[in-house]
Amino acid sequence: MNTKIYKNAKLRHKQELYDIWVEGEKIKDIVPAGFRGFPAEEAKDLGGKLVCEPYVESHIHLDYVYTADIPAEETGTGTLFEAIEKWSDSKSVLTIQDIKDRAYKGIKAEMRNGVQYIRTHVDVTDPNLTALKAMLEVKEEVKDYLYLQLIAFPQEGYYAYKGGAQLVEEALKMGADVVGGIPHYEFTRQLGEQSVKKAFELAVKYDRLLDIHCDETDDPESRFVENIAAEAYDTGLGSRATASHTCAMSSYNNAYAFKMMNKFKRAGINFVSCPTENCYLQGRYDGYPRRRGITRIDQLVENGLNVSFAQDSISDPWYPLGNGNLIHQVDFGLHLGHMMSLEQIRNGLDFITINGAKTLSVTEGYELKKGNNASFIVLDAPDELTAIRERAHVLLSVRNGKNIVEKKPEQILKEPF
Ligand code: FE2
Repeated sequence: MNTKIYKNAKLRHKQELYDIWVEGEKIKDIVPAGFRGFPAEEAKDLGGKLVCEPYVESHIHLDYVYTADIPAEETGTGTLFEAIEKWSDSKSVLTIQDIKDRAYKGIKAEMRNGVQYIRTHVDVTDPNLTALKAMLEVKEEVKDYLYLQLIAFPQEGYYAYKGGAQLVEEALKMGADVVGGIPHYEFTRQLGEQSVKKAFELAVKYDRLLDIHCDETDDPESRFVENIAAEAYDTGLGSRATASHTCAMSSYNNAYAFKMMNKFKRAGINFVSCPTENCYLQGRYDGYPRRRGITRIDQLVENGLNVSFAQDSISDPWYPLGNGNLIHQVDFGLHLGHMMSLEQIRNGLDFITINGAKTLSVTEGYELKKGNNASFIVLDAPDELTAIRERAHVLLSVRNGKNIVEKKPEQILKEPF
């Protein structure tokens, strides 16, 4: 079995340097640097660079990436609901190959930046399920390099789109891993609640995970997160259920928010925040002072709840920017969540590593430790604080003992002094 040593690695929350010994696809051991205990066929000196678990993209729409320019002319003011309408018009022209080509471009952007796990919402409000067919093919094709988890996501609703609920179920039968939803987009509060209930019924029936676009609005009356918590508690789905966005939580009154923290803990659900996209899309109907629509990240974390940060979009009708580099989301998320103690910054990478892995339920063998998968990334920084402050590049991505992405450090060719 092939043996390798990655020497002089700086591990998170440790002062000294370590050597990572890899045998085949597993970590044989992690020992203080310089220990000479095992033979190795290959050696790589990491020179004290920071090593951590691979990044986890816990919320993106790979079937939408690089569609911001379809149609070519600029329309509307760029609000979330306008984008849904615009997408509804655009998606019918896309073929399986179009979607695959764009998805690959997005996947490569993410993988170049250290991602090895992606949860992607796939729009199933399409009678032909074109995007799902495309993404099922991609999932199979990339599986040796990337774990891709597909959500049956009804972008236009379970009931606001005729036959939406049936299409979600059809997508699950075809192999989607996760049940999605968008209750705040249904016509009424009652239909939104019904859609959450239906999503949980499907998750139980087909033994799948669940991740719902939830309360992605500034409307403080949008409270579908309580339905998700209640259903996760009642069905026992617990940590297999996730509430994405929960932007309205930043507009809830404190008494209600604090009551719900306890319910969330009992339910055990995960939260995903998309810092750059949410702060752009929310607050659009405000004058000043203007809300930024970021969920209560700090309070959720203080209450021991699992929160991950995600990209959401790369250049689509919702958000024209985005580049798949998740450390940008950590930088934004810490700013927008008012989380700037040194300890909070040092823990910042958790939002795109271990917390994301929990959301995707892929924790087995994930952590960087003896006996686990030999999958990790090397950042161009000596420690966590520098990595986040400088939004450090990923120099190396190792998956199951193989170097799958390698990059040179940034080189300065000239400077004045
Ligand atoms: Fe989304």
